[in-house]
Amino acid sequence: MQLPLLEDLRPVEGKRVLVRCDFNVPLASGVITDDLRIRLPIETLVWLLDEGAAQLTVCSHLGRPKGKPDPKYSIAPVRERLYELLEAEGADTNRVELLENLRYDPGEEANDPAFVASLVENEDLYVDDAFGAAHRAHASIVGPPAFLPSAAGRVLAREVDALDGLLRSPRRPFVAVLGGAKVSDKLGVIEALLEKVDVLLVGGGMCFTFLAAQGHETGGSLLENDEIDNCARLLSEAEATGKRIVVPTDIVALSPDGVFGAGKDPQGEMALVGTEIAEGWLGLDIGPGTAGIFADEIESAATVFWNGPMGVFEDPRFAAGTEAIANAVATTKAFSVVGGGDSASALKMFGLDDQVDHLSTGGGASLEFIEKGDLPGLAALRKSAARRARG
Ligand code: 3PG
Ligand code: MG
Repeated sequence: MQLPLLEDLRPVEGKRVLVRCDFNVPLASGVITDDLRIRLPIETLVWLLDEGAAQLTVCSHLGRPKGKPDPKYSIAPVRERLYELLEAEGADTNRVELLENLRYDPGEEANDPAFVASLVENEDLYVDDAFGAAHRAHASIVGPPAFLPSAAGRVLAREVDALDGLLRSPRRPFVAVLGGAKVSDKLGVIEALLEKVDVLLVGGGMCFTFLAAQGHETGGSLLENDEIDNCARLLSEAEATGKRIVVPTDIVALSPDGVFGAGKDPQGEMALVGTEIAEGWLGLDIGPGTAGIFADEIESAATVFWNGPMGVFEDPRFAAGTEAIANAVATTKAFSVVGGGDSASALKMFGLDDQVDHLSTGGGASLEFIEKGDLPGLAALRKSAARRARG
């Protein structure tokens, strides 16, 4: 996908640049617990400063404050970390301003023209480095490219290269591993992936709807009754086209009286069962047999895409499946791409986040890109470039 790049903005010297980043970092009591989303675009900011930009107006959303100021979502901790990182690179922070949380203003999510006008006022150029938010048609994402010469920053460009390559010319076999709670959230992605991959491995909460579609008893596990027919259709379509959808053969289950989850007092009895789960019992992780089968598929793949945990990995009793997949994705010789969100947190938790070829900073954005092959933020940049080319 041909996006306008930073080089296309030259000369940058003396210009004021509006830079949209996705600094939507996880916070615990106001403390940043993972600063990856601030660290990565530093490269873009330093490039602009080195090119002689007069001023960078950096902006981002943080959380979902719903259109009004809320101290819980103040950008202040992000600003502090941003300046630290810029100073560590020897950058001139006097030329960098970070605006307050964009979503304090209802105009951001509403893509209000007046809010767009306030953002682009006095700016000469626009850079979008917010891949994680490129699926949102919000003011700061789709607005400025209509008014300013615009380009993708380094983070955005790298993300699109990796994901676009995956969709266009994957080396085979191409194995996708999908987890997470719901089939309904990922139906579009599953359909799109099935057109591209050779093998789809299904774990996580969503595997129970697939198991139910095969006629298995799922006990008290997560089940989306409305999606059983869709799962049955996907299974038979895959079979008809020579693809394989692989579902678990064993499950780690918790007794009906059990308590689970991050930070909970762990209670209940655990059992390793096959694909029939007794009434009330909850399937909460894939079993070791399944993990082995999945790991073998990942090991013999040439391209791997992973999104979504295999179980409730925040609870150590149900982390083994996700850890096994994380290890397999980290060690395979295949080109490996991991979608953001929970799978990224899992990789980080197991200390493997630097072991994959591409770790996406966008959860929703990477899935929507795989599903649709494009995102509103990318379309806006291309349109801006086309308009400039026409003069
Ligand atoms: C994310 O973390 O997924 C992105 O920053 C987008 O945030 P949003 O889901 O609140 O739009
Ligand atoms: Mg999100």
